[in-house]
Amino acid sequence: MHNMNLVKMLDFQQKGDERGKLVVIEGKQDIPFDIKRAFYIFGSDKDVVRGQHANRKTEFVLINVAGNSKVKVKDGMGNEAIYCLNRPHTGVYLPTMVWKDMYDFSEDSVLLCLASEHYDPQEYIRDYAEFTKEIQDMENEEK
Ligand code: TYD
Repeated sequence: MHNMNLVKMLDFQQKGDERGKLVVIEGKQDIPFDIKRAFYIFGSDKDVVRGQHANRKTEFVLINVAGNSKVKVKDGMGNEAIYCLNRPHTGVYLPTMVWKDMYDFSEDSVLLCLASEHYDPQEYIRDYAEFTKEIQDMENEEK
């Protein structure tokens, strides 16, 4: 099974009361992994495409805590899917070895990214041809 089948939207519980809302994300409870790293992306123009990489080791959860954006996921074998992030209580889970593009950022977009690993540029695949090659190698190994 390709990892792209593991991509899924997550809906987090909102703990709201008259003071406002609160969303809690605990590693291994609300998302499939322990959180080692958090970063967020904001101030990207509408026509910017970010991401454009796959990760050999890191899993992510992406949440637009403000504004909205889209994430396009590709499996390297011709299949792709688009996820809209437009609510602070929904996220998308991205396993390892899927290609991702983040785009269509609203002006007020703050895209929170939770990661299962510390930053290591070596585990990023930034070349699409290299990505499809490694996917093909994985497919061949399974056979
Ligand atoms: P980049 O991976 O290009 O961002 P995106 O995933 O949004 O396309 O990262 C931008 C810069 O920030 C790049 O110089 C690497 C650096 N960076 C870190 O130092 N640590 C991190 O955890 C991340 C995600 C990026």
